[in-house]
Amino acid sequence: MASQYDPPQPAAARVLVASNRGPVTYSLGDDGALTARRGGGGLVSGLSAIGPDADALWVCSALGEGDREAVRRGVGEPGVRMLDIDADTHAAAYNGIANSVLWFVHHLLYQTPLEPVFDAEFRHQWAAYETYNKAFAEALATAAAPGATVLVQDYHLCLVPGMLRALRPDLRIGHFSHTPWAPVDYFRLLPDDIARQLLHGILGADRAAFLTRRWADAFTACALEHLGEEALDGKRIGVHGLGADADFLRERAHRPDVEQRLTALREQVGGPDRRTIVRVDRTELSKNIVRGLLAYEHLLDTRPEWREHVVHIAFAYPSRQDLAVYRDYTEAVRRIADDINSEYGTPTWTPVVLHVKDDFARSLAAYRLADVALVNPIRDGMNLVAKEIPVVSDEGCALVLSREAGAYEELGDDALVVNPYDVTGTADALHEALTMEPEERAERTKRLAAAATALPPQQWFLEQLEALRG
Ligand code: G6P
Repeated sequence: MASQYDPPQPAAARVLVASNRGPVTYSLGDDGALTARRGGGGLVSGLSAIGPDADALWVCSALGEGDREAVRRGVGEPGVRMLDIDADTHAAAYNGIANSVLWFVHHLLYQTPLEPVFDAEFRHQWAAYETYNKAFAEALATAAAPGATVLVQDYHLCLVPGMLRALRPDLRIGHFSHTPWAPVDYFRLLPDDIARQLLHGILGADRAAFLTRRWADAFTACALEHLGEEALDGKRIGVHGLGADADFLRERAHRPDVEQRLTALREQVGGPDRRTIVRVDRTELSKNIVRGLLAYEHLLDTRPEWREHVVHIAFAYPSRQDLAVYRDYTEAVRRIADDINSEYGTPTWTPVVLHVKDDFARSLAAYRLADVALVNPIRDGMNLVAKEIPVVSDEGCALVLSREAGAYEELGDDALVVNPYDVTGTADALHEALTMEPEERAERTKRLAAAATALPPQQWFLEQLEALRG
């Protein structure tokens, strides 16, 4: 097929990563100054594995006004290209399709008597999703050196591999899904043409990879159902279970800012003998924070011996606040936490310590303090918090873990496993976790930490590059 782009000459990138959210976001101050904020996460540390000399390029999207202004002023990080995609197009693709349709499908979040509704508005948003994917495909096609390797990330960019393959057949293309993949029957909610487009888009890659075998198998099943066996001919489906970055976490968790927050948290918890149940999440519909609080309430209700002796430290950081359903969910989390505190709290004991302002150092302090880690998502690609807490906790922690989190595949043996919908079952698991003998807890934590760090981000990233090149 004739390609629209002449393969560019030297100085073009040999390794490219594409994702909606890049490593840096900018905010625009009232005085017109731009402030850069560097995000964490597996991709950022994974990319650092290829070193500064490699000709690597990270293509991402401008997310807000700060980012757009940075693009206009030509401000940016070396090795990062931010695309200033029209704001309405981005909003329709990101809020409309990626976060309100694809995220919902893969996490089974719809209330099906009323939603989804695939109407004209949806078709309009889908056209924006195509435009937004095309902008990425074209930017990658322009920037990639002949034969370069391109790693496309996540559900925002499902169409990119197919579009890029058409423009640049010489490239090696991988797609990685950081989310679960929907079961066949649920994926059938999507209009057939859309389902096919998504699957064809990803299968434009040489290799489609997932966080666990379960999600990889679900993808294969959907591809067989909608496209038939031929669509998978010559395609490789891989699994790379992203692990925690132990060296980074252990060092970072002992810096002065974390120590300072640890002292403040200890004060909020009160007495030194009080146990802690810790959760740290984005306030995300799939994280199941509300049922976690209800389980804790049930524990206090049915096992009064825990009153005054345990504190639930719940960090629920803002996420996707452009969507009303996320704002409502955030409100519900606050309300239920307040209800528990008014019903059970005493002048000397606050049962739930809820923080909603993102603070990484405080999260690490909570990890160190955790006697019990509560990770109970409805469904989750992996859940790195489940992997990070055992690595960082000072005294070892018992992990209450949803069987629907990707992390369950690697951590299930040493966790207390729950059905995330079962509130009383979760309360029982919390009780069991709180009463676990210290020796058993320490032994389990050791094994959890080993499993959690089996594939650190850098290795996770290099494995994918090797698999694509091999
Ligand atoms: C999940 C997705 C990521 C996304 C992150 C935060 O982990 O897999 O692609 O970046 O959530 O969501 P946001 O919408 O804030 O980027």
